[in-house]
Amino acid sequence: MERTISIIKPDATAKNVIGKILTRFEDAGLKIVAGKLTRLTKEQAGAFYEVHKERPFYGELCEYMTSGPVFISVLEGNDAVALNRKLMGATDPKQAEKGTIRADFADSISANAVHGSDSKENAEKEIKFFFPELAQ
Ligand code: CMP
Repeated sequence: MERTISIIKPDATAKNVIGKILTRFEDAGLKIVAGKLTRLTKEQAGAFYEVHKERPFYGELCEYMTSGPVFISVLEGNDAVALNRKLMGATDPKQAEKGTIRADFADSISANAVHGSDSKENAEKEIKFFFPELAQ
């Protein structure tokens, strides 16, 4: 069993598709073991995306992630990290495979509907960041 973080981003919460996205995780066999609807502070977004600090899009990314509510959940299942990434599709929705969450719901590379942990190690860090009570 593995765990990963999913964040449904402000563009998707504004489109009222939280339920549709969560259903995709459940239908693929992932179990939602924690979840919260919240609005990130500038400090939280900045710290969460610290790995991208030197990237040219960091400022825009943090600004965007604080622009509206997000739904953060912990997904559990076999190969949860890879499975969630497969369900999401490529970062840029224009490159995302048909039938993936980003192909179906995302607008642009910034407003790309969902975030998912990119490795088991980062999943552990991200779970600890948002749900310290779940940290193993
Ligand atoms: P996410 O999975 O949340 O991780 C980092 C985010 O940076 C990524 O999704 C994109 O939404 C955002 N981003 C914005 N511009 C770019 C870019 N040019 N290349 C990669 N990611 C970008």
